[in-house]
Amino acid sequence: MRQQSPPVCAGFWPRRPTRISWHPYAAMCWRPTASTPISTHWQPCSGRSAHRNRTSIPCCARHVQWEAISSDMSSQKQSHNEEVAVGRTSTVRRWVRHSGVGPVASVVGGYLAMHTLGTGIRRYTPPTVMDFTRSGGALATSAAAFLENLGWPAAEVEEVLHEYREVSELLVRRYAEIELFYPRTHGVEAETSAVLYGLNRLLKPQSVVETGVADGRSSWLILAALERNGQGRLHSFDINRTAGRLVGQHPQWRLEILDRKEPEASLAHALQRVGPIDLFFHDSDHLYLPQLFEYSQVWPRMTEGGVFASDDVNCSRAFLDFCQERGQRPRFLFDSRKITGAVRLPGARSVQQGQLVG
Ligand SMILES: C[S@@+](CC[C@H](N)C(=O)[O-])C[C@H]1O[C@@H](n2cnc3c(N)ncnc32)[C@H](O)[C@@H]1O
Repeated sequence: MRQQSPPVCAGFWPRRPTRISWHPYAAMCWRPTASTPISTHWQPCSGRSAHRNRTSIPCCARHVQWEAISSDMSSQKQSHNEEVAVGRTSTVRRWVRHSGVGPVASVVGGYLAMHTLGTGIRRYTPPTVMDFTRSGGALATSAAAFLENLGWPAAEVEEVLHEYREVSELLVRRYAEIELFYPRTHGVEAETSAVLYGLNRLLKPQSVVETGVADGRSSWLILAALERNGQGRLHSFDINRTAGRLVGQHPQWRLEILDRKEPEASLAHALQRVGPIDLFFHDSDHLYLPQLFEYSQVWPRMTEGGVFASDDVNCSRAFLDFCQERGQRPRFLFDSRKITGAVRLPGARSVQQGQLVG
């Protein structure tokens, strides 16, 4: 990137240096690039013409510009810090409202014990591999084995995964076309990606719900399968307005941005509109109580024969506890860094009749 040369202004510049005139950034013209809900990113202007187009003020005005940016940055930082501080208290208050005092006190107590005593109460530490094997469900390390463990015949699984190879190439091309907003690591991993496509092709769901969109890798894969099915609708939920860039728009997609101050209440309300769910995929907030809350909201809405799945089940014990309480034996996919869990509900899928599991 070509940087602007230091300003030379025969007018008042040498006589009226500003407080920040020594700063190297002060010699550049800056422009905003991306804005997130909490900050604006700035970048030095890449060319003189852009600078001239933006403003016809003499070069020394850039100093004013830098001053404006630095005060904008510090106010953003301050409001972010305030948001985080307010966020922590309001999060605990929210949890108490939705999960009750008992579970919150128990989670917070367990968390504090873990950090002060260094040992912790096992229930609130992330699960170990042993916990997954003890849960009784089969473990897999490939998409094919995981889908077979969920009960689909090997030949059908092979067919959809063969199809997936072509789809994954399209996704690579889509990535090259757009500027990503979230780190790549936010997206579902390689085997889980294949599972999401394969699962939607095998199940042919009418209604899919996912929580946590980020750039939209999981949404893109689900929609690619629904599009090929020629039916079905994906309802995605996130708390950030920046979510879903990979997809943009799709006729079978409804992306809803939840109220970030009250995501639980907002999700519970939205789910009433969605109706019966054939396939659920959690990939939003991976803390114990938020995971448990989402699971318990979605579970009664699942249709017979549907699939209830969650990414990042290694982040908390919520999925293991939830399945154990309901006598379910989930299947697990050990991807490169994360673990995905899923339960296939018994019964033939009967969406028209809207048979709920209850
Ligand atoms: C791991 S990323 C999702 C990745 C996405 N599934 C993919 O494959 O690309 C997590 C997302 O969850 C969103 N999120 C965090 N808390 C949430 C909540 N309570 N409800 C809905 N979305 C939430 C974040 O804004 C973020 O976009």
